[in-house]
Amino acid sequence: MMPIGPLMKEHRVIERMLNIVEKRLNIMKKEEEVDTTFIDTVVDFIKNYADKRHHGKEEDILFRELNKKELSKDHKRIMDELVQEHVFGRNTVKKIVDAKERYEGEDKDALKNIAENLHIIIDFYPKHIEKEDKHFFIPCMDYFTGKERDSMLKEGEVFDGKLNQVDYEGVVKQLENKQENETNEQITLPFCQSSVTAEQDRSQDDDEPCDDGIR
Ligand SMILES: [Fe+2]
Ligand SMILES: [Fe+2]
Repeated sequence: MMPIGPLMKEHRVIERMLNIVEKRLNIMKKEEEVDTTFIDTVVDFIKNYADKRHHGKEEDILFRELNKKELSKDHKRIMDELVQEHVFGRNTVKKIVDAKERYEGEDKDALKNIAENLHIIIDFYPKHIEKEDKHFFIPCMDYFTGKERDSMLKEGEVFDGKLNQVDYEGVVKQLENKQENETNEQITLPFCQSSVTAEQDRSQDDDEPCDDGIR
């Protein structure tokens, strides 16, 4: 595998988290209430997975090695932009943390700041990822020999081993399942406006009026 293999896999996990955030944000805006536990989970994911683990490998291994090469003007420019975008991401997360603390301190207007900055993250990260996936990672591999690529891949594994060992992909999967369950509940229950569960309903007669809504 090339050293960009793990980075591209991590991009897919980050994209999945962004989807979750977008859906959750819509609910928070509708209900005018911040789910602070969810915000803590998102902040932890961005800080420890997207930034420390992912940007960490990009900056401390790939970009460091690219800096030793004679890059084309375009690649140099893109790499500089990517580093600046990482800084922008970190600053945006700081604003989210700050607004969340204000919200917990009863400043309900902070909801607007949380929403604004989550929107920035949702909008900015996919563009950043696309720039790396489609315009930078693959062409940049041409600067390296096979041996250099192998050595970066191994260094990435060692790098990951030194970080917290939280299964962030598992965290994302759990959040996806939770959201899916919530969506199913919303789709099925309003039909009969009843709190009856699917299991209870199956035990009832087939000609009960709410069958279609629950199955
Ligand atoms: Fe990046
Ligand atoms: Fe990346």
